[in-house]
Amino acid sequence: MKQSIGAKTLAIPTPVWLVGTYDAAGKANIATAAWGGICCSQPPCLTVSFRKATHTYAAIIERQGYTVNIPSADQVTEADFAGIVSGRDTDKFAAAGLTPVRSELVDAPYIAEFPLIIECRLLHTLEIGLHTQFVGEIVDVKADPAVLGEKGYPDIRKVRPIAWDSAHKGYYGIGEFLGQAWEIGNRLKK
Ligand SMILES: Cc1cc2nc3c(=O)[nH]c(=O)nc-3n(C[C@H](O)[C@H](O)[C@H](O)COP(=O)(O)O)c2cc1C
Repeated sequence: MKQSIGAKTLAIPTPVWLVGTYDAAGKANIATAAWGGICCSQPPCLTVSFRKATHTYAAIIERQGYTVNIPSADQVTEADFAGIVSGRDTDKFAAAGLTPVRSELVDAPYIAEFPLIIECRLLHTLEIGLHTQFVGEIVDVKADPAVLGEKGYPDIRKVRPIAWDSAHKGYYGIGEFLGQAWEIGNRLKK
């Protein structure tokens, strides 16, 4: 029998993304988001959810776009930092030693040092409760050539993305390869 632990946000793991925005004054900012994921294949879309109290919330609405910057395991300190302090009173790019690059496709900056960048145009805004969900249409993905693998796509073993455990607030690296999708399940076909 399973043990009930209540209605909590425990769909572990979640991603660790840094969302890049320009505020109303044009200042580049980044904020950590774990409440996010891909939500549509065509048009390609993803979501991030922010509390109204964050500087990022107003910036996304103001600029109608944002970037998702995927850190590598060795950038976990920068990733955590961007989730601790607010861009309202700190220049997080400068404080973390990161370089903002102006996107040519959306009105938002991305992080030069991070291996994988997703540029998003705001498509929908959904007021849910404490968090507001922003659905962004992916207009481009940019990758450091060093993390590319087969077919010119990002190789997860080179990107080394971070997974977040909301149950114990821990950051984890990726684990071992378990099997090929749309293939390993065929073993159970009669
Ligand atoms: C691992 C981690 C994940 C986080 N995920 C979210 C999130 O999904 N949504 C959110 O509103 N805040 C999240 N936060 C908190 C914000 O990143 C934090 O409030 C930050 O200071 C907001 O920055 P800003 O005011 O510059 O936008 C997270 C923090 C950490 C450390």
